[in-house]
Amino acid sequence: MHIEPKYPPYTESHFFDDHRSERPMVEDTVPRGSLRVDVARFSGKIDGADITYFPIPIARADLERGMDRFNIYCSPCHSRIGDGNGLIVMRGMVQPPSYHTPRLREAPVGHFFDVITNGYGAMLNYAQQIEPRDRWAIVAYIRVLQYSENANINDLPMEARNRLPQAGQAEPERLKAAELDEPIAPPDADLTNFPNEPATPSGVPGVFGAGARPGKQPERK
Ligand code: HEC
Repeated sequence: MHIEPKYPPYTESHFFDDHRSERPMVEDTVPRGSLRVDVARFSGKIDGADITYFPIPIARADLERGMDRFNIYCSPCHSRIGDGNGLIVMRGMVQPPSYHTPRLREAPVGHFFDVITNGYGAMLNYAQQIEPRDRWAIVAYIRVLQYSENANINDLPMEARNRLPQAGQAEPERLKAAELDEPIAPPDADLTNFPNEPATPSGVPGVFGAGARPGKQPERK
């Protein structure tokens, strides 16, 4: 067994016509876990038309995953609420449309999947960074954002409605009412004064982004 007939890598073979010992993959080979027979699930389309339903079940955990991925990959341009005023846009990037326009509120879920998969106009695609399951989670979270900006008071349970400030109520009263329970979206302390006062003070060693002094960035290791 110690010495056995074998081809070390890249050795020429006289057995095969093309003289390669490395054999090409058999045609139509599919790696385990990559069989994509469900076209709707992997393209967001059926017969070229955007699908209007989620091709996988969406649970609360998926919405949370979607929020997490959205905040990482999309919010820099689209902002955390999807109105298109992300930090990069504030610094000069082309402004994307708000998700809260009637057109995008009515757009089928397949359209959002397609935009992430193939890009759209000035926006590059995220097919390499975001796997299909996470793309659907992000699409579901975009629906959450759209709902959050257009919810009707009648959608709230009575108990939650009672906690809302009444119309015309003074600002301090509203704050007190909000303090009764956890705020819906706690403010991001680091970003309160951004960009006037970056969260990272300028000149802190090892910083390449906000706060790094122009021309004085430390060497990347
Ligand atoms: C680098 C900035 C940037 C990032 C990051 C980004 N987008 Fe965009 N997005 C844009 C711009 C710019 C447009 C407008 C493109 C155009 O109309 O030419 C756009 C457009 C869109 C649209 C609207 C398409 C339409 O029908 O008008 C959707 C939906 C969208 N993006 C989703 C996403 C999602 C989801 C992510 C995260 C996975 C994301 N984008 C990440 C810049 C970005």
